[in-house]
Amino acid sequence: MKVKVIKGDITKLDCDAIVNAANTSLLGGGGVDGAIHRAAGRELLEECRTLNGCATGEAKITKGYRLPARYVIHTPGPIWRGGGYREAELLANSYKNCMDLAARHSCRSVAFPSISTGVYGYPAEQAAQIAWTALRKWAQAHREETPEEVLFVCFNDFVLEIYQKLLRQYGEQL
Ligand code: APR
Repeated sequence: MKVKVIKGDITKLDCDAIVNAANTSLLGGGGVDGAIHRAAGRELLEECRTLNGCATGEAKITKGYRLPARYVIHTPGPIWRGGGYREAELLANSYKNCMDLAARHSCRSVAFPSISTGVYGYPAEQAAQIAWTALRKWAQAHREETPEEVLFVCFNDFVLEIYQKLLRQYGEQL
């Protein structure tokens, strides 16, 4: 599975699925959640209302509506509370469960924002390492399956630098 690191707005990406850093209500919010709902249109919220929320680390999938992406995979990442409340495990679960859903919906390409590192305050370097490790573990357990490509979409240079460093360190093949 190939990894790409890009800087940009995830709502503009024409991937099979984009991941939304949601909250457990799945009823929208600020940050990337707000951007995705604004771009997708109100039908996204209408579908989200039927999902009865989502637990932290779990993931649920909807259509993309007005987004270029076919699907939105919503996952509430953990709120950073210092590291002693299973945050690392829950964040890894978010990435794994998103990949499981993407595979189940035959998505060839999936784009992830930097989950939990905005409003939820997760230290971005730790979160990126957890993301990379979780996806590599998933790829090793799902050889020859889709998705074939994962994109880490960075919204600012600070996060972009962090992911580019991991790309240099680990290479583009998970
Ligand atoms: N495209 C890509 N990344 C984005 C975009 C965008 N359009 N907008 C923001 N980001 C980045 C942020 O810069 C950050 O690096 O997404 C990352 C995650 O930040 P948040 O969106 O704040 O998400 P998170 O930290 O997981 O907090 C989730 O915030 O918006 C609310 O409803 C959401 O309650 C939930 C909480």
